[in-house]
Amino acid sequence: MIINKSDFGEQFVWGVAASAFQTEGSCITDGKGLSIWDEFSKRRGKIFKGHSADISCDFYNQYARDIALMKSMHINNFRFSFSWSRIFPKGAGELNSDGVAFYDRVIDLCLEFGITPWVTLYHWDLPLALQQKNGWANREIVDHFSDYVSFCISHFGDRVKHWMILNEPMVYTGAGYFLGIHAPGKRGMDNFIPAIHHSALSQAAGINIAKQLRSDIEVGTTFSCSAIHPHTIREKDIKAANKVDALVNRLFVEPLCGLGYPVESLPFLKRIEKFMHQGDEIALQAVPDFIGIQNYTREVVKHSYFTPYMNSSLVSAKKRVKEVTDMEWEVYPQAMHEMLHRFSKYNYKKIYVTENGAAFPDSVADGKVHDPKRKNYLQSNIAEILKAKSEGVNVEGYFVWSFTDNFEWAEGYRPRFGLVHVNYETQKRIIKESGHWYSDFLSGNC
Ligand code: NOJ
Repeated sequence: MIINKSDFGEQFVWGVAASAFQTEGSCITDGKGLSIWDEFSKRRGKIFKGHSADISCDFYNQYARDIALMKSMHINNFRFSFSWSRIFPKGAGELNSDGVAFYDRVIDLCLEFGITPWVTLYHWDLPLALQQKNGWANREIVDHFSDYVSFCISHFGDRVKHWMILNEPMVYTGAGYFLGIHAPGKRGMDNFIPAIHHSALSQAAGINIAKQLRSDIEVGTTFSCSAIHPHTIREKDIKAANKVDALVNRLFVEPLCGLGYPVESLPFLKRIEKFMHQGDEIALQAVPDFIGIQNYTREVVKHSYFTPYMNSSLVSAKKRVKEVTDMEWEVYPQAMHEMLHRFSKYNYKKIYVTENGAAFPDSVADGKVHDPKRKNYLQSNIAEILKAKSEGVNVEGYFVWSFTDNFEWAEGYRPRFGLVHVNYETQKRIIKESGHWYSDFLSGNC
């Protein structure tokens, strides 16, 4: 099947996505405060081969070149995040005008090139100073986050018309406050439960504040999601899959739209009650202008006696299928279609796919990067989006993760997700074949 951009209609938004910590580098330059990822990534054994994001893609210095490259590729929408500690080095209190000026420059340049900026306010790099007071596990964060949101919307809202409040709260609370494999490296229910609740409160507060401050902006928030399928049709496996589904796909969207936490499926969530204040049921709710979903794969789940709380385990994709990505994720584009239908049930005005993409082991040969697997991955996911759209799902945009290769959290620089290859020694950029394809697709030459 040949797909054209025009099949999606004039209004459909096409873009690329990135985040501050994964690309900027310059972690203490011009008054920036440290974030939890600056600290966590220096701990021994936490990051693949001890890679450091101190320089990364050097976006802090290379932004003009990267945005010009983006333009040359016909990319008209750029989703990136603000580093909270570049703007408020301690998370609250004193403002860093140099940090603000950096984002002013990035935004102004995007606009000059006709690229629409889409800003995520929180993409996991919490100011370290706030983690010293327990970070997301401390309720005070809701007020600090609200102040940060207010500042950003008031200052940048004249030029930035598209905002995302949180990036994948399930992932940063789960990996950072339960499993301890992401920053800030906290483990266990005592950290996870309050981190969930304070993130869900901040998600709603952020949306409400942004919408109150300006009526001419579009405000949303993003959710990670995966299709969750049972390993067999045995009742135990189906039950296990339902639990994982509640955790992975429902935990943050349902309180936002007034359905509360999925406690019947996940009884451990009853512990949230301890952190609930009067009025919180309402404070968890907001009406965003859109939701962003971020889908990469599906998971297959079976019953297990050995996992506390969940009684389930994932059947690794490597054991199930021949080909996996460099993240060991199954290539399963039908998950995109399934997730779009699932999230459309919540009746939000619009859905954007705010991330989708794949890591494959790319190499440079004769100055080129031949990456047919990434191109196929993107094409087949885009086809599933078109299918869902033609079936009536209100999906209105798509952002490839990611524009350039970048720092993939605990995996360091090993997985390469970019449409553009980065040589981390020289900072040279090479548009991969998938990038040339996306560029042709966007310009209608495909
Ligand atoms: C989700 C996250 O938002 C992003 O930071 C990450 O790099 C990609 N998915 C790929 O894992």
